[in-house]
Amino acid sequence: MPLPIAELHLHIEGTLEPELAFELAARNGVALPYADAEELRKAYEFADLQSFLNLYYELMAVLRTERDFADLADAYLARAAAQGVRHAEIFFDPQAHTARGVDIGTVVEGLWRALGNSEAEHGVSTRLILCFLRDESAESALETLEAAKPYLDRITGIGLDSAEVGHPPVKFREVYETAAGLGLRRVAHAGEEGPPEYITEALDVLGVERVDHGLRCVEDPELVARLVRERIPLTLCPLSNVRLRTVDTLADHPLPAMLDAGLLCTVNSDDPAYFGGYAGDNFDAVRRTLGLGEERLRELARNSFTASFLEDDEELRAR
Ligand code: ADE
Ligand code: ZN
Repeated sequence: MPLPIAELHLHIEGTLEPELAFELAARNGVALPYADAEELRKAYEFADLQSFLNLYYELMAVLRTERDFADLADAYLARAAAQGVRHAEIFFDPQAHTARGVDIGTVVEGLWRALGNSEAEHGVSTRLILCFLRDESAESALETLEAAKPYLDRITGIGLDSAEVGHPPVKFREVYETAAGLGLRRVAHAGEEGPPEYITEALDVLGVERVDHGLRCVEDPELVARLVRERIPLTLCPLSNVRLRTVDTLADHPLPAMLDAGLLCTVNSDDPAYFGGYAGDNFDAVRRTLGLGEERLRELARNSFTASFLEDDEELRAR
């Protein structure tokens, strides 16, 4: 039996497996510049975050209808459940779809078809987190939040993702303030490729409750001490870090040292279709390669529920 865990860092568009991409392409009459799923999978060789994002956005062309988004989310939830995920806080990137003429309502309603049935179908509770693309403008983020207003009963929080360097958190101060006023929870990617200062800024300027990645905090001992003191969760994604070359090899990953330092670390999959593993695969990889013992693995599982946006009673049921 896999360890029950909560997944807190998962881009639903990053769960698009090559086989499903081809199925949706055929359904929607979209031509993909790859002969088949096997050839597409061979393109999953990345030099950095941007080279991944280029393919990630390109493949989204196959996602057009509510049914497509429902199928995507349902496939993820089935795979996640099989690996021990009992609760998933799921990112989506509305601007990547509205820019292609797909309405935000199509995205949210489609995802909701799967998420609304997830507890009954898969035994996985869910939350939805709307992410702004940080390489788009602050105005575009504000427009996206405005467009999301009819769906806020389905959206728990906001996040910030896409190309990090050159797009510091401060750029999104206003949209985070507005979202906080609407009662939305706040997270942001920071310190994946960007410097430790972006983590500090995400905390101080955006008021985030959780930092996605946060890996580069290890370069700043004072920041580590603050994250420990304030019990700020970090949603780490070890296999993603290897595939996007933010660490040289998994054996070099600072997760064990981060746990030793007292950081509230969680282990997640980020974009599992692209990075070679779902949440349980990430747990297996760190157990095998980093030599984490049973106690550390249980700590990571416990942290994932502590760091989630579940209410206390829901948390107890999910654990
Ligand atoms: N969007 C999808 N995956 C991402 C990642 N690892 N970093 C930033 N933006 C992303
Ligand atoms: Zn991510």
